[in-house]
Amino acid sequence: MRILSGIQPSGPLHIGNYLGAIRQYIALQRENEAFYFVADYHALTSVRDAETLRRYVFDVFVDLVALGLDPDRAVLFVQSDVPQTTELAWLLSTVTPMSWLEKCVSYKDKVQQGIPADHGLFAYPALQAADILLYDAQLVPVGQDQKQHLEITRDIAERYNHVYGNTFRLPEPYILPSVAVVPGLDGRKMSKSYANTIEIFDPPATIRKKCKRIVTDSTPVEAPKNPDTCPVYRLFALFAAAPERAEVERRYREGGIGYGEVKTRLAELIIDCFVEARVRRDELAANPDRIAELRRAGAERAAATAAAVLEKARAACGVGPR
Ligand code: ADP
Ligand code: TRP
Repeated sequence: MRILSGIQPSGPLHIGNYLGAIRQYIALQRENEAFYFVADYHALTSVRDAETLRRYVFDVFVDLVALGLDPDRAVLFVQSDVPQTTELAWLLSTVTPMSWLEKCVSYKDKVQQGIPADHGLFAYPALQAADILLYDAQLVPVGQDQKQHLEITRDIAERYNHVYGNTFRLPEPYILPSVAVVPGLDGRKMSKSYANTIEIFDPPATIRKKCKRIVTDSTPVEAPKNPDTCPVYRLFALFAAAPERAEVERRYREGGIGYGEVKTRLAELIIDCFVEARVRRDELAANPDRIAELRRAGAERAAATAAAVLEKARAACGVGPR
């Protein structure tokens, strides 16, 4: 099965991104022909500084490889290294009714968060449709928040096929089973936009410090506590093995466990979970030439598919031949 997904380099990856998406992308590369890319054209709608964007693209690329995305197995590339994407986005735009983009929840949310309502942000779903259709993707694994974008992708592909004859394969969404929404330090959903994240590659001392800051109520140590509503326990449960999880849950319900003890243990579990990835990450980050080579090789493999699909789309609508 040909699968594809994109990750926006709009900041360092956090453990919500890992548990909610990246871990599953890594698992999917085993049984499928996987295409994964760092969506820098998309990130331009929110990152407005060249140095920052370059750093984020490098960091996300390195993080993904360190976490286990295997560039020999999956095609791992940077979106803008395959410029056919923007040409296809234009062709698709010409068959995309304004009303489809106007109803996008993600656009409305971002404008409400204060991101400028420019044309790029508005046309974001047409660019995303180009990403998906350009690689003939059959299955697109994404979080629930991207469901509407995938529906629009299918609608755009159907419309192009209807107007110009059969050109694109219709992709199926694969909404990742949500492990649970990973809570952040303040108890809300962990998200860059709430500044409540634990980054995967935060230094261990920072992880320990952040765990201490997770919000709790003032229930005394001896009193029973509800694990289900406690962000410390909810995070702990995502990292602890079953026997330890059950033991801590029991002590929450019976009373006799303090939040401080669980926070200390949680920090060690998070650090341990990424200990090997951290070593790999340090090695990779110290070798930018190797990263540049992986990036070039990924782009070359991606472009081979992209060029063929773009030619078909151009021929269908009457652009070219060159
Ligand atoms: P952020 O909210 O930090 O900007 P993104 O929207 O870029 O994160 O998320 C990228 C992917 O990570 C999405 O597929 C999303 O479903 C997943 N993800 C992000 N935050 C969480 C979370 N707190 N819990 C579970 N999954 C998450
Ligand atoms: N919009 C997606 C997000 O914010 C990232 C993305 C860009 C993407 N292009 C894609 C995801 C194509 C899947 C397929 O998470």
